Amino acid sequence: MDSEITEDRGSAPTVVLGITGCIAAYKACELTRALVRDGVRVKAVMTEAATRFVGPLTLRTLTNEPVAASLWDDPATAPVHHISLAEEADVFLIAPCTANVLAKLATGRADDILTTTALATEAPLVIAPAMNVHMWRDEATQFNLRVLRDRGAIIVEPATGELACGDVGEGRLAELGDILDAVRAELGRVKDLAGVRMLVTAGPTYEPIDPVRFIGNRSSGKTGFYIAEEAARRGADVTLVTGPTHLRDPFGVHTVRVTTAVEMHAVAMEAYETAQVVVASAAVSDFRPAVPSAEKTKKEDAPSAVELVRNPDILAEMGAAKGERTLVGFAAETSEIVAHAREKLAAKSLDLVVANDVGVAGLGFASDRNVVTLVSGEGEKQLSEMSKRALAREICDWLGARQARR
Ligand code: CTP
Repeated sequence: MDSEITEDRGSAPTVVLGITGCIAAYKACELTRALVRDGVRVKAVMTEAATRFVGPLTLRTLTNEPVAASLWDDPATAPVHHISLAEEADVFLIAPCTANVLAKLATGRADDILTTTALATEAPLVIAPAMNVHMWRDEATQFNLRVLRDRGAIIVEPATGELACGDVGEGRLAELGDILDAVRAELGRVKDLAGVRMLVTAGPTYEPIDPVRFIGNRSSGKTGFYIAEEAARRGADVTLVTGPTHLRDPFGVHTVRVTTAVEMHAVAMEAYETAQVVVASAAVSDFRPAVPSAEKTKKEDAPSAVELVRNPDILAEMGAAKGERTLVGFAAETSEIVAHAREKLAAKSLDLVVANDVGVAGLGFASDRNVVTLVSGEGEKQLSEMSKRALAREICDWLGARQARR
């Protein structure tokens, strides 16, 4: 490993290019040249098998950077090379990616420099698989792809054609132009929310009836957590105010946990003072028991009715004091989705309503997938069914584009 050839490329974006052992490995050289021409700093990381198809010297010469091909090199530049590479990456591209490395990525295996770096990075993962058609179609590979997609990886689907083994079918590495488009799109997202002070509300609220019983709902909080995490990765300064969930605090996000709507209202309104963007994904309970019992109610004493009072509408209150802020709300609908979303857009002075079709069985609340329509002053965009992670990216894309116009 030749650390001395690294030169300071200033603020050039960095793509860490993972290359795996496949006949299409030579195409990684063309990808490298195109990225370098774009002004991107490319750092190659190769599996041992990849080095049998292309020499590290070729990549080192094309990138003018050291090439990482083993966990056991002596990295003069950084004491723990896979971690420094992982941190340097703005985008982690793996092209070509074999079925074997795909499987390792899906299970979080880290047994060489490439998979260790992939596990350690927070950068978006763009994967361009290449393999024999039967390996591609195998249920195991398709399962691994679903796992990776749901986790937020961008898969650049292989093309159909004649394969190196003589078979004809899907499995050829995608056109280089398609891979470059995917990488450029991800680079465009890097830091597009830099410095934006963002407030995200998430999860359900629990409204106590007595010390052990409550009124709540089935919101998992996932969408809000993913939005907070994605926005922080893209440079936003994010505060997440969440009701009870089983999710871990997102990395790099200031997370405040509350239980009731009244508590969420207090914390969110304080954070609102300095927020520039609000994404209200919380499923705030509209009502709370008027007088929660201080003691657990015995079943013999069960009341025939629980008197309820309205909770504050946090987002409506924010809309009434909107100023220059951007406000994003959610709507859960089962019919006339766009019309209801438009009413909400106007009623709460919102810029975007993410209208969730919760009438579709198996989607929406407590599921990992959604079908939504983005409704804004500019129009509507019906999104295809997608994972909540992918939805978080779409919402951040919308916010990033809006920031760019400001
Ligand atoms: N919201 C809020 N505070 C509340 C209720 C809702 O901040 N007390 C926010 C939610 O986070 C969401 C939006 O307002 O962004 C939802 O608005 P709402 O009018 O409650 O819509 P629905 O839940 O779809 O209910 P409805 O059936 O009454 O339209």
